[in-house]
Amino acid sequence: MALQRLMRVLLVCVVGYSSASVVDNTNFRTPRQNPANIFTVGNGEQCLSADRTTGGVCLSRNQCNTQGGKAIGFCGVFATCCSLNACDVRTNTKVAVFINPPLNHESSGLECSYNVEINNNNVCQMRIDFETFNLAPPTTVDPVENVTQRPGFTCRNDIFQVTNLQANSDILPPLCGDNNGQHLYVRVNASTNSRAIRINFKIADRVTQPNLPQATWKIKVTQLECFNTLGKFRDGILESITQSLPSTPFGGSSADRDEYLIAPPGCLQYYPDRAGAFESFNYNRGQGPYIGNLIYSTCFKKSPDVCGIKFTAATFNMAYRDETNIYLDTDCQINPVTRGTPQSEDYLFIPEAETADGLRGSKFCGASAANQIIASTPPGPLYVHFKSDNLVTDGIPEQGYRFSYNVLNNCFGRI
Ligand SMILES: *[C@@H]1O[C@H](CO)[C@@H](O)[C@H](O)[C@H]1NC(C)=O
Ligand SMILES: *[C@@H]1O[C@H](CO)[C@@H](O)[C@H](O)[C@H]1NC(C)=O
Repeated sequence: MALQRLMRVLLVCVVGYSSASVVDNTNFRTPRQNPANIFTVGNGEQCLSADRTTGGVCLSRNQCNTQGGKAIGFCGVFATCCSLNACDVRTNTKVAVFINPPLNHESSGLECSYNVEINNNNVCQMRIDFETFNLAPPTTVDPVENVTQRPGFTCRNDIFQVTNLQANSDILPPLCGDNNGQHLYVRVNASTNSRAIRINFKIADRVTQPNLPQATWKIKVTQLECFNTLGKFRDGILESITQSLPSTPFGGSSADRDEYLIAPPGCLQYYPDRAGAFESFNYNRGQGPYIGNLIYSTCFKKSPDVCGIKFTAATFNMAYRDETNIYLDTDCQINPVTRGTPQSEDYLFIPEAETADGLRGSKFCGASAANQIIASTPPGPLYVHFKSDNLVTDGIPEQGYRFSYNVLNNCFGRI
C-alpha cells in the first residue's frame, strides 16, 4: 500500500517535471524559476535602501528586474533590496509585490495597473494579500432633509479592482477604504488565451478633493499551483481537494505550501489555519462602514478531523430590517423577498449556527452576533457569507464585524 503510494508520487513528480520543461521552452518569455529560490534568495521580506531612507522588498536581482523594480540596496544572501514603486508592471513571477508610487496631495489622479501573467500551467489560483491597503473610504450621497434612506456606501473615489478574469464567474467587488491585512483569491485558468489578470488601482484627484486620505498600498500576489494525482487541473473538485490537503503549512516544499493555501472554489477569502481572525472589508478599526451591494464567501479549512467552527465577535454591527425581535433571520431579510421598494437586506450568513444562548438561525444582523459565541456545524464546507444591500438608513449603523475563530473537532456539545 505504502509502496504503491510512493510509486504514484514518484510518477507524478517525473510527469510534472517533464511537462513543466516543455512549457518553459514554448510559452514563456522568461525561464521558469525554481520556486525554492524565492524563499532562500529573495524572501519577499521588507528591507531598507543602502542609505536606510527608503523601504523595499528583498528579491533576487532577476525577480526585481522582471517585476519592473529598481535595486536600492542589498539584503539576505545575494539578494537585492528592490523598490517596487512602478505603476504599470507586467510580471509572471510566482510571488510578486506591488507598492504604491510616491503619492502626495498634489497627485492629480492616478491609475496603476499590474498585469500578473500565469507563471506555469499548474497555477490555478492567485492569492492577493493586502499587506498595506489604505484608500479613500466608501461614500454615499449627502443627506437630504426629511429623507431617511440613501444609497449604500460604495467606492466612488479610490477604487481597487481585479479585472480580466478568466476561469470563473466569481464576482470580484471593487474595494476601497482600510483593508490592511485582508486578502482575496482569484481563480485562473492556464488554458485560456489571455494568461494574465489585471490588478487596478484608480486613485481620485487629490487636488479637487484635498480632504481624502493619502492612498498607500503594498500587495503581494502569490500564484498557487494545483497538483493532483492525475496531473490534471482540478479546481472545482472540492472533494479531492479537501481529502488531500496537508494539515500544516510547514511541509517544506513549495507544492506543500501551495496546497495548504488553495481555497475551495467560490471562496473570495480563505483562512486555512485552525484559529485566527477575520473582518469585513473597510472594517476600519471598528468604525466601518462596510461596502454596500456586496456578496461573497469567507471560507475555512475543513480538515478530516474537523466538524464545525466557533466564532467569537470582537465587534458586530450590521443594518437590520426590523427591530422587533432578535436580529436573526427574518429581522435581517424579509421572507419571502419581494420586488419593489428596496428592503434592508444586510447580514452575515452563518450556516447551521447556534449561539451560546441557545438561539438557532443563520442570518445575523443588528448587533445579534456581538458578545456571542457562535458555533456553526454545517454538513458541507465551512464558510460564512457576507451580504450588504444598496441602502443605508439614518440612525442604523453599518460598522461591520471582526471575529476570531477556532475550528471544532467535537461537535456533539457544540460550543
Ligand atoms: C421636512 O418636514 C417638515 C415637517 O414635516 C416640513 O415642515 C419641511 O418643509 C420638510 N422639508 C422639506 C425640504 O421637505
Ligand atoms: C479553462 O479554459 C478552457 C479553454 O477556454 C476551457 O475549455 C476549460 O473548461 C476551462 N477550465 C475551467 C476549470 O474553467
